[in-house]
Amino acid sequence: MFMDKIQNLAVKYASFTMQKSLRQNLQIDILHKDFTKQPNLDKSYMLYAHIPFCHTFCPYCSFHKYAYNEEKAKAYFENLRAEMIDKKNLGYNFTSMYVGGGTTLINENELLKTLELAKKLFDIKEISCETDPNHINPNELSKFKGLIDRISVGVQSFDDEILKKVARYDKFGSKDVLIDKLSKAIGILPVTSLDLIFNFPFQTKDGLINDISIAKALSPDQITFYPLMKSNITKDKIASSLGISQKDNEAQFYEIIRAEFKDYHSNNSWSFSKTKSNLQDEYVGSNHEYLGVGSGAFSFMDGELYVNAFDLDEYGSRIINHRSATIAKCKFEQKQRLKYLFLTELFDGQICINEFNQKNQANLTQSLFLELTMLKLTKAIIIKDGKITLSKFGRYLFVVLMKEFYIGMDMVRAVFRDGKKLKSGTKLKVMEGLE
Ligand SMILES: C[S@@+](CC[C@H](N)C(=O)[O-])C[C@H]1O[C@@H](n2cnc3c(N)ncnc32)[C@H](O)[C@@H]1O
Ligand code: SF4
Repeated sequence: MFMDKIQNLAVKYASFTMQKSLRQNLQIDILHKDFTKQPNLDKSYMLYAHIPFCHTFCPYCSFHKYAYNEEKAKAYFENLRAEMIDKKNLGYNFTSMYVGGGTTLINENELLKTLELAKKLFDIKEISCETDPNHINPNELSKFKGLIDRISVGVQSFDDEILKKVARYDKFGSKDVLIDKLSKAIGILPVTSLDLIFNFPFQTKDGLINDISIAKALSPDQITFYPLMKSNITKDKIASSLGISQKDNEAQFYEIIRAEFKDYHSNNSWSFSKTKSNLQDEYVGSNHEYLGVGSGAFSFMDGELYVNAFDLDEYGSRIINHRSATIAKCKFEQKQRLKYLFLTELFDGQICINEFNQKNQANLTQSLFLELTMLKLTKAIIIKDGKITLSKFGRYLFVVLMKEFYIGMDMVRAVFRDGKKLKSGTKLKVMEGLE
């Protein structure tokens, strides 16, 4: 009982501290001249490509996207390929690629050309793509055999009332239509993952359990349950489409999810696989360093976050002129950087202290002494034989922290969205960018 209270407080405190730290420490520098990040040849980076197009805009989603237009999309994919060639010419190489959106399969032919080129340019062994339930038709998916290794399909929920409220029922289909589409698509590519969201306002426990059983019965290779993330960009849209509930079921629902997936392998704190797989659901997870191509893509390298031009015309004109697409960067202080690495690595399940220290030239137990002590006192982590693992409570705590981190990244997106023009040379804290 006493420990429950302490742990509740710890969740509130951790979430407040993460928000505060992102607000205060994430300073965005709008670059006043072109900046090209050179590769560090000793490091292995993942390639992230952003496809910013959707046929419909869902109220909870803050990812960078535009309404689909074939002509614009074709020109965009061409620029994306040109940007990849520029990276190759700089000496970059990658062994894995994550294509995120938006809706990455929105123009299958263009995506095919892009993935084929990526494999030709780099030593890419694994490709993951995100898509919606309208682009998983077996004939189309089959064209990607041998190219896409993992596809994650946004389902969000199998509850028709929720689907109607988030305007996906008419666009992507009712529960029955979704089940039919998914059952035909699963198995075509090596790994199919379903993305669902939990803790929608007024979602019931029975509704959640029903979502879990339908997802499990479809037998995809992976299932991810994201907690509903509400950022400044989306909170009003979520409130007007789904309502405002005074009750927050996040912790209770997460516990149900963990119990229902106890026989699955945890890829990380919110993603589960039928079998152990090294194809992760997050590019921020185990891939600490990644280079992003495309409009609005982020890169995280050497403790800095780089931001590509959001505006399609600006992005296109930079690429056509062989200029770098990077328009801004945010520097993480050494301690912030260590916290980020610690968060993302432990979110995946375990940290081997020696390996972590060697890989990051750090002294984890010294640099994060206070944080580790707090985590131990609240029984969030277990340190044994030089390894740090998350307890049952720790897994939930890290879900909350990761959620806050994602919301923090939304604050960065909010600074650039809607074609906002920011003066070059400006330095601003993310909060100022929102004003
Ligand atoms: C970038 S979206 C692409 C999905 C695809 N376009 C679709 O709609 O099916 C990837 C996934 O992020 C998750 N997601 C997006 N916004 C979210 C939010 N506010 N809270 C939790 N999960 C979210 C959804 O599960 C979504 O399927
Ligand atoms: S959830 Fe998917 S379809 Fe909906 S707006 Fe986000 S990226 Fe687009």
